[in-house]
Amino acid sequence: MILGVNIDHVATLRNARGGSDPDPLSAAVAVWQSGAEQLVCHLREDRRHIQDNDLRRLKDWGGLPLNLEMAMTEEMARIALDVRPELVTLVPERREERTTEGGLLLDEGSLGRIRIFLDQCRMAGIRLSLFLGPEPADMEKAVLLGVDQVELHTGEYSNASSEKLVQAELHRLVAAASCLKDKGIRLAAGHGLTVRNLSAVLELPGLEEVNIGHSIVARSIFVGLDQAIREIRKILADTETLRVIRMECKR
Ligand code: PXP
Repeated sequence: MILGVNIDHVATLRNARGGSDPDPLSAAVAVWQSGAEQLVCHLREDRRHIQDNDLRRLKDWGGLPLNLEMAMTEEMARIALDVRPELVTLVPERREERTTEGGLLLDEGSLGRIRIFLDQCRMAGIRLSLFLGPEPADMEKAVLLGVDQVELHTGEYSNASSEKLVQAELHRLVAAASCLKDKGIRLAAGHGLTVRNLSAVLELPGLEEVNIGHSIVARSIFVGLDQAIREIRKILADTETLRVIRMECKR
């Protein structure tokens, strides 16, 4: 299981004072040292956290594959094709939202824009992922587009306020994940994941990657980035051990 660590909120803290501390690049090195496999950052239209220069420094450093989250706009496409991160994740963006609320809307207009951008990414050697809500119809559209990856938005699951709602959201996530089985599309998940709610998500069929930001950066204030990431990695490792034990019991 690949762990991507989103360092947007290191930049949020830096931007609060307008100086250079804490430096997202130092955070990136700490992420790498803690054993996570991918860096994630979201270059927003309003540049509220990660800035263009951060993106270029992270790419130039090159210690970890970079997953650039961005809206499907001409400006962002131009930046992505210039910086060439290993992976681009297309996310919806509304200026007034606090964080990415919900998955992409795949209507005819956006499908057309994604098709063009997908071709450009292929030429540039960039893999393309779509951040989608757990809707079977959207999974089918992703399959038809032939994108490299789908990241399921786990926000509704994370925010579910009762056990019944949690189970209902998990059911939707499992159903969506099942639509991608044997379709040659990698499956990732992210948004609102924490040490408390991660385990159930790791059971999604075919899941290969989780991307986690806010809970890790929030926890790092008390225990440091290294320890915060190791706590998440322990959950990933324990789940893998359980999976192996279950497989051996089946034999
Ligand atoms: N994955 C995607 C596509 C996201 O947009 C975000 C939030 O920027 C995350 C993962 C991480 O979400 P969180 O910060 O809630 O862990």
